[in-house]
Amino acid sequence: MRFLIFILICIILSPLLIVGLIYYTWRIRRICVRQNISGTANEPYASRLMMHIAGTRQDDAAYKIAGHLPSFDKLSKFLLMETLGFASNLSGYKGSMFAYPGQRPSTLMSMMSHRTAFFDRSIKDSLTRNDNPAVQFVVLGAGYDTRCYDLPDGIDIQCFEVDMPPTLNSKIKALKSAGIPHDHVTFVETDFNQETWMDALLASGFNSNLTTYILWEGVTMYLVEEAIRDTLNLVSSLPKGSAVGVDFFSADLVEGNPPYARISKAMHNSIKYYSEEIQFGVTTGEALSKGLEKLLQDSGLTLSRFEHVGSEEDKLPPWYFFAHIDKL
Ligand SMILES: C[S@@+](CC[C@H](N)C(=O)[O-])C[C@H]1O[C@@H](n2cnc3c(N)ncnc32)[C@H](O)[C@@H]1O
Repeated sequence: MRFLIFILICIILSPLLIVGLIYYTWRIRRICVRQNISGTANEPYASRLMMHIAGTRQDDAAYKIAGHLPSFDKLSKFLLMETLGFASNLSGYKGSMFAYPGQRPSTLMSMMSHRTAFFDRSIKDSLTRNDNPAVQFVVLGAGYDTRCYDLPDGIDIQCFEVDMPPTLNSKIKALKSAGIPHDHVTFVETDFNQETWMDALLASGFNSNLTTYILWEGVTMYLVEEAIRDTLNLVSSLPKGSAVGVDFFSADLVEGNPPYARISKAMHNSIKYYSEEIQFGVTTGEALSKGLEKLLQDSGLTLSRFEHVGSEEDKLPPWYFFAHIDKL
């Protein structure tokens, strides 16, 4: 019933939503793509923002920077996000994309809730445990992630946000305009697909002798395999207790192998819209996590937690995984 009321309100408000969508799309093409600012960074950001607006997951920083981003200025924030939030709050519908932590098994619609909840837990566990907690927090491919501005209660640590210059600069500008304190964050400009990317992190004050948590969310699929292996090797060179939270597509999805030929084509086309490219996926083993365990073998890391979108009973092998990987 709530869902039906939600849809009804959306239909009534559809002129606002349609204009909002056209305007947002125009900003992506006209501003983000032209200035090499990541367009895909907006998708997970918008999901977390929606959860905040719908009242299912608090993310004050995400809400504050909306209105100051190249994609979401005040008008697109109002027309799209506030309108959907109004429909959700008036109808009481909090399912699917607005849900947090969301249903399990997750589906295509609820995968962002699943992903967000998985990484929230992964970060909290590493930063707040009593024994050897992480004292350094690195967000690789940070995009518009706001975890550094909403650290678990009582945690006050040095953070690093790493991304390519155009995206990073647009975020810094938004943080400044929104008045969000960011002195505890070091911004590191680099390209993971360049051999020297790690030098930039090390030169920025990153201390490889400290127990570190690395959030690597929504990024591996855009990288070449060498960059993936380099990063895993970096984690394995850190002190015991360090960890990385990371998600991977399956190689079948990326390569368009059956039964994923159609969905793979649609996915590659939609990413091309942002002028970005999906490149890497992990081969799925028979025991779902096997392919990832094999990838980790070379770097001597341990897969401590593994979840995937969909159910094990599904006829299709899983195509999207979330992993918490430890240096033991
Ligand atoms: C889909 S977004 C995810 C952003 C953020 N982690 C999140 O989940 O909200 C991917 C991010 O990775 C960054 N990225 C992609 N390829 C990169 C590369 N080769 N070097 C540095 N950053 C990269 C993009 O600029 C973008 O911010």
